[in-house]
Amino acid sequence: MLDRLKALHAQALDELSKVDSLRELELWRVCHLGKKSTLTRILRSLATLPAEERPGMGTRANEIKRALESSLTEKEESLQRASLASPLESQRLDVTLPGRPFATGRLHPTTKILDEICDVFRNMGFQTIEGPEVEWDYYNFEALNIPQHHPARDMFATLWIDTGIGGKARLLRTHTSPMQIRFMERERPPVRIIAPGRVYRYEATDATHESIYHNVEGLAVDKNITMADLKGVLFQFCRCLFGEDRKVRFRCDYFPFVEPGVEVAIGCSVCDGVGCRLCGYSGWIEALGAGMVHPDVLARVGIEPEVYTGFAFGVGVERMSMLRYGVDDIRLFYGNDLRFLEQF
Ligand code: PHE
Repeated sequence: MLDRLKALHAQALDELSKVDSLRELELWRVCHLGKKSTLTRILRSLATLPAEERPGMGTRANEIKRALESSLTEKEESLQRASLASPLESQRLDVTLPGRPFATGRLHPTTKILDEICDVFRNMGFQTIEGPEVEWDYYNFEALNIPQHHPARDMFATLWIDTGIGGKARLLRTHTSPMQIRFMERERPPVRIIAPGRVYRYEATDATHESIYHNVEGLAVDKNITMADLKGVLFQFCRCLFGEDRKVRFRCDYFPFVEPGVEVAIGCSVCDGVGCRLCGYSGWIEALGAGMVHPDVLARVGIEPEVYTGFAFGVGVERMSMLRYGVDDIRLFYGNDLRFLEQF
């Protein structure tokens, strides 16, 4: 009987060593320690043994039972530890691995310089307004002293949307100057506004000409505004954008809606005045058209030219950007080439 107990113990331990899941362990428990197990049956049958054998067998059988129970607990713990450890092992994170960089978007160079230009004027007290890109002939031309058949229309190679009669034809605005009229029609002086926006020209493109680009229009109307105010504002603007040292040149120019009219040019940043493709080998880049608002324009919107005067200007935004960053081809701005855009 004792030998049988010994063999039972050995077999149970042997089987236990092969158990490698909690489910198998439960089967093992039922088999070796359960109600119907051999060991339990032996323990139950102790009463039927002769009295002198009973204590020895009882002690031994109970020892084996306790030994098996503690082996069971031990195995259970080790299996639980293993089941916890394996996902920890397989899902291990190497926190020292460098992160994967992800591509972030950025502002387009034109957006950046537009923001900067608007900031400079905002600091000088100009309010920002916006208006339509599809414009009436009236605002783009007629109200600006450019009636039908006026030769100055040739200055603005126009993309027409339809042909209405008189001022009722629609077009893609060729400049932001129509915003002068739109604003003065509804507001009285003092006026101090800038109007940034996209403009269109029907034009063959080259390094300095593009059919879509941006303007920032400026307008100030009040009593006693003079050419000196215009020059002061534009000098200050050029200084803010390009620094104190950049050369700025004012020359006479003609725009039908101003009198007198000027052209403002800035020393070329690519060749530093020596002459290159960007500046057409002149050393200067035309950056702005400007002038004193024509009295007829004021009168047309009901502002008395005897009482009020004003100045206006139009900044070519991409030109500014080219000067600022030394870009030598305006077509890059709408080319969508990431190699270019990622430099900003
Ligand atoms: N609108 C003109 C252009 O695009 C520039 C300009 C604006 C000139 C305001 C004078 C006054 O060429």
